[in-house]
Amino acid sequence: MPGVAVLPVSLGAIVKSIELPYHRGLHRFAVFTACATLALIVAGALVTSNDAGLSVPDWPTSFGSFYKMPQMVGGIKYEHSHRMVAEFIGLLTIILAVWTWRVEKRRWLRVLGLAALATVITQGILGGLTVLLFLPAPISSAHAAVAQTFFCIAVAIAVFTGRRWVQEQPRAEFDHRRPALFTLTLLSIFVLYVQLILGAMFRHHGLSWWPHVINAAVVAFVLAWTAVRAISVYPEVDAVRRPAIAMLGLMVAQLCLGFLAFITRVMWGRDAAQPELPMVVSTVVHVAVGALLLATTVVLAIQVWRYVPVAFEERVPGTDQKPVAA
Ligand code: HEM
Ligand code: HEM
Repeated sequence: MPGVAVLPVSLGAIVKSIELPYHRGLHRFAVFTACATLALIVAGALVTSNDAGLSVPDWPTSFGSFYKMPQMVGGIKYEHSHRMVAEFIGLLTIILAVWTWRVEKRRWLRVLGLAALATVITQGILGGLTVLLFLPAPISSAHAAVAQTFFCIAVAIAVFTGRRWVQEQPRAEFDHRRPALFTLTLLSIFVLYVQLILGAMFRHHGLSWWPHVINAAVVAFVLAWTAVRAISVYPEVDAVRRPAIAMLGLMVAQLCLGFLAFITRVMWGRDAAQPELPMVVSTVVHVAVGALLLATTVVLAIQVWRYVPVAFEERVPGTDQKPVAA
């Protein structure tokens, strides 16, 4: 580009290595918390798909008790198991936040640990509220959306505490294209959130199915654009290429699962007297793969931000040179 000087510096050099210790135990614990959260999302989706949301009618107690195990029959086995797994995740999150606070040097990561704790508390309250208010669509949908947000935070903490993130000096390559790849990843996260809310509103009887299905085309377009850009322009940056390929694969799987969910829920399920197994399986897997897709896209955005940051061009007053700063 004429008149444009690219500063021969990498982000790593600018930030000049501040030696960070790698805490293997903390990282493994964060990975475990993230995996357990995915299991909790499956447990929650089983509650909704089996129409078991009100089988335990009270909260914060279960049939009047904090500790007594109810008879695990009918919908109660889904609803009560979901509550127990949720309490376990709450405990893991408290440990994660305290541990991060004690050993972590990066202040923003300590704050992220606290944000995870605040999110899980909000999620528990939303779960309780949706029971007490007889499952209103906006609250059940908010509960579905915050669940995936919490999962993304847990996955992000696992990435930030990883050995590679802590010990590697990233060689940043500035991105001069417009829209920048980072912008595309943010747009992908945005359209996925819209898709999640439209899907949840339909699943909880607050909206028809067609806005979700129409927006699936938007999601497919934006995510394919983002993945193709990442894979074709930065094939040598592993940290970017890998989540981009995973995102593309998960998106294709999710579109297929969406059609299955549609057939079993909308076409076959219309007159079903009770939840049928094919509907339960396809909708639960559709929810779980949706969560994995969102989290993978968040990881892609984080890695793009680190390895291929946006280059900003700025005119220096009094010269005809346009240096590039990032
Ligand atoms: C860490 C905390 C929690 C997470 C991550 C979580 C996650 C989820 C997820 C993913 C769903 C399925 C949403 C859907 O399929 O649309 C769900 C449903 C549900 N959760 Fe939770 N949950 C948590 C805590 C709780 C708590 C403490 C309660 C207390 C009662 C609760 C009650 C429910 C109910 C009743 C449903 C079914 C809602 C419906 O069918 O409308 N959840 N949860
Ligand atoms: C990549 C695109 C897609 C994504 C990310 C996605 C995501 C989701 C999510 C996250 C939910 C559940 C929300 C919750 O937790 O409550 C959902 C529900 C649903 N989606 Fe999708 N979806 C996609 C494409 C599709 C397509 C193409 C179809 C149909 C042709 C579809 C049909 C459905 C149906 C029927 C439900 C509700 C299931 C139920 O009522 O139990 N989805 N989707």
